[in-house]
Amino acid sequence: MREIIIAKDAAKLNCLAAEKFVSMARDALDKNGKFTVALAGGSTPKSLYNLLASEEFRSQIDWKRVFFFFGDERNVLPDAAESNFRMANENLLEPLEISAENIFRWRNELGDAKKIADDYAKTLRDFFKADFPRFDLILLGIGEDGHTASLFPFSGALGETQKIAVANFVEKLDTNRLTLTFPVINHAANVIFLASGAAKAEILAAVLRGEFKPEKFPSQNVKPADGNLYWLADESAAQNLK
Ligand code: 6PG
Repeated sequence: MREIIIAKDAAKLNCLAAEKFVSMARDALDKNGKFTVALAGGSTPKSLYNLLASEEFRSQIDWKRVFFFFGDERNVLPDAAESNFRMANENLLEPLEISAENIFRWRNELGDAKKIADDYAKTLRDFFKADFPRFDLILLGIGEDGHTASLFPFSGALGETQKIAVANFVEKLDTNRLTLTFPVINHAANVIFLASGAAKAEILAAVLRGEFKPEKFPSQNVKPADGNLYWLADESAAQNLK
């Protein structure tokens, strides 16, 4: 199932996303006794994380049974300014006092990108006891070039069908990124894309309304085989969709 939901502004978008997060968490907790979520990095989710940790939402979920993972990570240490873990830790995990046993970050201190990725793949397989983990929810952002997680246009990881977590060299950034692969993303029970602001209007229209060119627009490859896909956007980001 794919649904595009447009919220008036960024505040309403975050509210909508937080409400979906809560309802998915409650479903998973009722059904399986735990909720597994892969968090998105970048800047868009920061205000959502703050909202989830706020008085309005924090009491709505039994956080002790929520397990946090990361859809991707920059090739930096966890305390670096551009670390996705650091952003989520400061805005969500620490404010909610999530215990360390419930947080599974990429162990970038291992240094070598391939070693970090292989280590994360083992962490996922050990936790999910499956070759292809099925997350209850994967949160994703979308870059202005159509990338999601760290699956960038024309990058090597786009065609990965066996590995679940890889180091992906990104030409334009001249650096390795760490990312879950499409087989994992498309195995999720729920995927939520968050898009906010006019800067995303062009790419959102290209991805959702344009020709299917997944090498150029990797976000087009997100199609959960047996799961729900929600595109949540504010009116600024969705202005070219009409
Ligand atoms: C990252 C993210 C990346 C992000 C998009 C959108 O590591 O940066 O995983 O995929 O979601 O680049 O980023 P913004 O939310 O900052 O626009």
